[in-house]
Amino acid sequence: MILVEDVTIAYNGQTVIRNINLEFKPGLHIVLGRNGSGKSTLLKTIAGLLKPLKGRVLISGRDIHRLPRKEAVKLVGYTWQNPYAGFVETTVRDELEFTSRVSGVPLKQEIVELLVPRSLMNKNPFNLSGGEAKRVSIASILAIDQPVWLLDEPFDYLDAEGVESLIKIINYGLTENKTIIIASANLAYLHMLEGSQVLVLSSGEIVFRGSLRDLNNSSLKEHGIPTRILMCG
Ligand SMILES: Nc1ncnc2c1ncn2[C@@H]1O[C@H](COP(=O)(O)OP(=O)(O)OP(=O)(O)O)[C@@H](O)[C@H]1O
Ligand SMILES: [Mg+2]
Repeated sequence: MILVEDVTIAYNGQTVIRNINLEFKPGLHIVLGRNGSGKSTLLKTIAGLLKPLKGRVLISGRDIHRLPRKEAVKLVGYTWQNPYAGFVETTVRDELEFTSRVSGVPLKQEIVELLVPRSLMNKNPFNLSGGEAKRVSIASILAIDQPVWLLDEPFDYLDAEGVESLIKIINYGLTENKTIIIASANLAYLHMLEGSQVLVLSSGEIVFRGSLRDLNNSSLKEHGIPTRILMCG
């Protein structure tokens, strides 16, 4: 479904990701790596928001960087690591409708209702608490039900109910045969998601491909990812 072909990504001449080749089939994929290893950069490139220096990204055979923005938005939903970075409207109600308005695809209300309490609707998105903002940001992007979801540190700031709702949404996405990629600097909550392919990024390269089970504490340590002992005591 997603092919990353010989992709190199650089900011101001500084290479962050070097000549990587990846294939993401429908199902769940997790991209791990230490802070600054390029996880968000990779997701934004797959979403078509960043143009690679070299190589291309094909989604269902279509080069995402050559598609009109409206078409790309219908195909891929990228939820921002920093939720405030994606806000454009002055009320939560308008923010939730923004992606739907741009793409012409109707909102899936069930996704909005799982994450966003009605009491937030008239608030300014920029005044929301961290967890409220994360909920609105994720709902505003995913509620048009794209076939590809790219979730950048999706569990950050969420409380127990938020985590549970997001896991329900991810599991719904998997039953719908979506391709879902989660970027994370740690393993929090990932054990609740089954059957995932794991990639680890380090110094611009993929240094591990396998399952969560195969990532032992010494490889976690080596790649700068908090070990299970460090996370849970
Ligand atoms: N717009 C930009 N201009 C210049 N450098 C950037 C830009 N965005 C990211 N970088 C740099 O690229 C590198 C990779 O950043 P990226 O955000 O992809 O890392 P990450 O793996 O998502 O990290 P984190 O775990 O902190 O979220 C970092 O060194 C960062 O400083
Ligand atoms: Mg990041």
